[in-house]
Amino acid sequence: MHSVVFIVISLILILIEVFFYKRLKPKISKVKSGAIENFIIRLICTQWLVLFAMLVSVFRFFHSTDINTQYHAQVIAGVILAMLLSKIIFILFDLFAKRWSWIPAVIVFFSFIYGMVFGRFNFEKKEYTVELNKEAFKDYKIIHLTDFHSVSLRSASMKRHMALADMINSEDADLIVFTGDIVTLTSAELDDFVCFFSNLKSKDGKLAILGNHDYGDYYKWNSKQERDANLESLKQKIKKCGFNLLCNENVKIYRGGDSLCVVGIENWGRPPFPQYSDIKTAEAGISQDEPAILLSHDPDYWQYQLGKDSDHNYPLTLSGHTHAMQIGVQYGDRGFSPSSWKFDCWFGEYKNGKQTLIVSKGVGGSGIPFRLGMSPEYGVIRIK
Ligand SMILES: [Fe+2]
Repeated sequence: MHSVVFIVISLILILIEVFFYKRLKPKISKVKSGAIENFIIRLICTQWLVLFAMLVSVFRFFHSTDINTQYHAQVIAGVILAMLLSKIIFILFDLFAKRWSWIPAVIVFFSFIYGMVFGRFNFEKKEYTVELNKEAFKDYKIIHLTDFHSVSLRSASMKRHMALADMINSEDADLIVFTGDIVTLTSAELDDFVCFFSNLKSKDGKLAILGNHDYGDYYKWNSKQERDANLESLKQKIKKCGFNLLCNENVKIYRGGDSLCVVGIENWGRPPFPQYSDIKTAEAGISQDEPAILLSHDPDYWQYQLGKDSDHNYPLTLSGHTHAMQIGVQYGDRGFSPSSWKFDCWFGEYKNGKQTLIVSKGVGGSGIPFRLGMSPEYGVIRIK
């Protein structure tokens, strides 16, 4: 399977390079100096060799056991993608415009690199107000974090992480919730971030659930025991970060004579995403008429499954998972991203009667460490 993917991607790359060279060749032949023409041709040939070496290293190390190697393979994959996208743009523009077709190509290349170097650290705050009709919890403030994907934030200095922790702590929140995907492949990614998460403070503590990436299902383990040991180790590390991990469980928070119930389910997604949720078990001990907050990593659960699994009253559900595809255009509470082709609820606030779903774009990213137009964010939810 691995070699088939490698061959297919190599063929696509070769095809793009052939078209790219065909469009570029007439422009090179216009160069008057033979020496410069030779230099450009040698540069292109060298670039092909470098591109091939980069592709081999990405396939060799993308799933490396060493987190640093894994991270650098993801960065190289990002550079390859930036090169390819800019070449495709060059080919398309050159078909119609003929002149200046290199300008949009250069813009695309540097925008992509900007997204890798700076865009993924432009942390934003997104605010919401939700009605729960609980007098004792009026003005209760919840910080919503999701999709940290630790490996993707690896290159940032501790100063950058602590600035984010300071932003979150300055909210003086009542509760912090994390809705899954704390890692991308293995529990080892979390080692360098225990300090970051331990520094996050709120009056009623921190709750977390697991996301599809946290189960280790995207890593090639030698045995089921290895996979299970990784999951167990991740659960222990999440607890070490100070989270109360809810795996199909609920917890009650008390204020005065009233209480607020938070239900956390394990991942449920439409195929190919895993379905480990068991909401009936998660709802154990809470009364039918008690409104609760639901934590579900995948927003599809709210849209497609919640009504089938439970008739409990959930005025608020918090999710992540989509990352808003890490690329798009955002204007106020609206936006466009390729994520909207895959998910109906992919970013922001959604309503269904008295039920509200809030989908966060998340903090980190999976695949390529990159964000353009869809900045990383944390949510601040105020209950009224
Ligand atoms: Fe994720």
